Amino acid sequence: MLNIKQFPVTCLINTALIATVICGYAGRGKIKQVQSFDLDWRFHAGEINGAEKPEYNDSSWLSVNVPHDWSIEGLSLSETNKEDAPEFHIVKGEWKFSKGDNLLWKNPDLDDGSWQIVKLPSTWEEHSNYTPDNVYGWYRREITIPAELKGKDIYINLGKIDDADETYFNGVKVGGMGSFPPYYTSAWDILRHYKVPHEIINYGGKNSIAVRVFDGIIGGGIYNDGEKIIEGPFESACPGGSGAGYINAGTGWYRKTFKLPENIQGQHVFIEFDGVYMNSDVWINGVHLGNRPYGYSSFEYELTQYLKFGDEKNVLAVRANVQQPCSRWYSGAGIYRNVRLMVTDPVHIAHGGTYVTTPKVSESEATVRVETRIQNQFASAQQVKLETVIVDEFGHESASASSLQKVDADSIRIFEQFIKLPSPKLWSLENPTLYLVKSKVYVNGSIVDADETPFGIRTFEFTVNKGFFLNGKHVDIKGVCLHHDLGCLGSAVNKRAIERQLEILKSYGCNAIRTSHNPPAPELLDLCDRMGFLVMDEAFDEWKRSKTMYGYGQFFDEWSERDLTDMIRRDRNHPSIILWSIGNEIPEQDNTNAYEMSKRLVDICHTEDPTRPVSSGCNSPEAAVKSGFSKPLDVFGINYSMPFYQTLKGKAKLVASETASAVSTRGEYNLVQDGDTLKIIKELNNQCASYDMTAPSWGNTAESTLKAVKSAPWVAGEFVWTGFDYIGEPSPFSWPSVSSYFGIVDLCGFPKDRYYLYQSQWTDKPMVHILPHWNWQGFEGKEIPVWCYSNCESVELFLNGTSLGEKKFSDTRELHLEWKVPYAPGTLKAAAKNNGKTVCTDEVQTAGAPVKIMLTPDRTEISADGEDLSYVKVEIVDQEGRVCPNAVNLVKFYIKGEGAIAGVGNGNPVSHEYFKASERETFHGLALVVIQSSDKAGEIKLTATSDGLKESAVTLKTEN
Ligand code: GAL
Repeated sequence: MLNIKQFPVTCLINTALIATVICGYAGRGKIKQVQSFDLDWRFHAGEINGAEKPEYNDSSWLSVNVPHDWSIEGLSLSETNKEDAPEFHIVKGEWKFSKGDNLLWKNPDLDDGSWQIVKLPSTWEEHSNYTPDNVYGWYRREITIPAELKGKDIYINLGKIDDADETYFNGVKVGGMGSFPPYYTSAWDILRHYKVPHEIINYGGKNSIAVRVFDGIIGGGIYNDGEKIIEGPFESACPGGSGAGYINAGTGWYRKTFKLPENIQGQHVFIEFDGVYMNSDVWINGVHLGNRPYGYSSFEYELTQYLKFGDEKNVLAVRANVQQPCSRWYSGAGIYRNVRLMVTDPVHIAHGGTYVTTPKVSESEATVRVETRIQNQFASAQQVKLETVIVDEFGHESASASSLQKVDADSIRIFEQFIKLPSPKLWSLENPTLYLVKSKVYVNGSIVDADETPFGIRTFEFTVNKGFFLNGKHVDIKGVCLHHDLGCLGSAVNKRAIERQLEILKSYGCNAIRTSHNPPAPELLDLCDRMGFLVMDEAFDEWKRSKTMYGYGQFFDEWSERDLTDMIRRDRNHPSIILWSIGNEIPEQDNTNAYEMSKRLVDICHTEDPTRPVSSGCNSPEAAVKSGFSKPLDVFGINYSMPFYQTLKGKAKLVASETASAVSTRGEYNLVQDGDTLKIIKELNNQCASYDMTAPSWGNTAESTLKAVKSAPWVAGEFVWTGFDYIGEPSPFSWPSVSSYFGIVDLCGFPKDRYYLYQSQWTDKPMVHILPHWNWQGFEGKEIPVWCYSNCESVELFLNGTSLGEKKFSDTRELHLEWKVPYAPGTLKAAAKNNGKTVCTDEVQTAGAPVKIMLTPDRTEISADGEDLSYVKVEIVDQEGRVCPNAVNLVKFYIKGEGAIAGVGNGNPVSHEYFKASERETFHGLALVVIQSSDKAGEIKLTATSDGLKESAVTLKTEN
């Protein structure tokens, strides 16, 4: 990875948003310059004609900086409000229904007199007591289209249908979502909003509608009336459905105007995008440079031949087209990663052209292989010298090499250097030592290019019988899967936000990340290298058989080789990466050509990087073995399917690539009175109890998974689904839930109780944690289930100073200890002991009425770079400063000085408040406000107020 700060800084002049001027470039013969191209873009939400043309007037567009995610900002137009034709809501009312399947039932003149009359919306279990799984049924009704609409197209709104449908209007197919067997996929949560062309409409008379429905598991039929509720950035009828977290996306345009100094004529100019979501088109000065469908790929274009210099302006235009549903999770939308402009000599190191490996590693010496692709864009051959220096973590030169070769005209030549490095310091999780390859390219004695590539020296191995080894030492992979959104910041990349995520993961003992299910932001990998995490770098969530209607499947044939190759070339120098994954739960696991399909992708990985094994997360391990899908894999990734740890023992190298999917809501215990006792309801009011009891049918509780993985030491370890809550996929619920329940911490990064379970199993420093909170007014005398997590031998529990007994982990097979404690307000304290001695304690106290707000920033000094963040925890506390666990208070934020609010949140998966706002309700006593610095050093004062509570303020410092 190129560190842009290492290069001569060109100045960026913001001329009142008219143009960015690249200046200070010293002309031909100087080394490459890399300029951040993140500032001063113009943005427009929605489709627009001619916006790629340089002369287009964008002065009414929003001014934005990238990385930018327009959908989190609520800037997307409601997809369902965009129609250019009248819409008919046709669900409510009487329909005819028949179970079974016959394509002739689409015909308008079918005699359906014998069909059952049903009232919709309703599932077919409800209206017909029709229950089997994997079944078909048909619905029919007639509608009258007013004569005065003659000649106009219309829309029909069919609400939501469980799971797949085909819809016919007067016998002509007008829509369908989900897929029917044999390649069944569900679209149960997607609004059916179909356009009917005027040619097939009988105006002023009756029209027939026939809907063919397939249901995979319970809930079949037209069960939802399609009414739209819009709250904050969320819309119940969003075409992305629950997967997208009900946040619309659509099309968006960006434009950036800039000038280039005359003296760079003759140089080569490239634009690099770390990622644009999705299906982006890029133009320079009206010339189309290309299209990149996959929103997670990094890409570049050469601009050279289309550029203007001096006083003339250049216009870069980017269109992103996010046709939903395209993803099973919240994707975000726009130029959500960083952009750079690069100016190079015609002779330069090609994009991503340095590849560093360490073929031999011993205590006394490492052999470093440096492969450098040098590109010559001159029309004549050039004699090129490459000087490579290896620099240690203190900046000292450790070894070097120099090579001279001819590079033919207009071609790329690969330089290969083997450099011996004495007494290497190894990269490990505890000491993630990094070295730097400094490359310099010379032509005729003048330096023409320079680059820096961090790398690490380590060995690792997956084994069949004993799991995973790093530098010869056994390491349990204690990993989590992560989607890429950053909570209230949406998907717009921010380095500090990712760093904070990693700090939180480290704090509960996590040592590995699976980039589910796509190439991550390069910043994540840089941070994993630096902070000591292992990474499973994943390419795809689907191949040809799509999981979502507008997902990657439509691009797979044309783009999979390119996308996978680009990912590996971009990422292969990161020492943190120990596995490539060619995909997650790929539906082709049971294809007859599964072997060929998986081998093709595995071969690409091996060619681009022979040093790392290749895996794939298989949710049907049996099918994957039978079909040959798993044969080319170096490491068999098992998603869930825990019995296969045993079945595949000794037969393959194994990793539990996805586990648990346990669901819980921070602060919710769902305790309800049931006669004289209290009962825990797993799912109540769209919240999941925080006692670790609930998981979907394919998943398991966190505790049972931890036990299963521990008892299978031949498995390299696990990647828990998921480290953080994320926007979208709110299983087991749908609207009004909008974000997930799977996280070990919530969407703000606040720990759920499961956080402490993992901490107890994954860390050694003595800890103990009690759940639930201790505010149970109304339940006096009733037995509350109290759980403790600890990594100590035993825990003694005390209520208001009286011992309730000591319990030992050696007496139970569980990973928690449990007491039933008759509720009395006061203090519940846990003392965790080793060898009979108390080594740590935890307590929960009954809080009084909310009195004030407390603000606690994670950092009080941040950089004045316009990017850095301080995460301020907002707590509602009582007179004594105890957090009130049930407090729901709307807190308003006022900010002064050199910063702004980047986002707010509270971790409630059912909240419909804006993330980009200056107020937030607390959820179980907590909220979060994220402050971002400006680029001027100074102070930021944040004040928080709430009706009836004492306000609070905090001052942060920002420094250059
Ligand atoms: C898995 C899938 C994940 C997520 C998870 C939820 O099967 O790989 O992407 O959907 O289920 O439990």
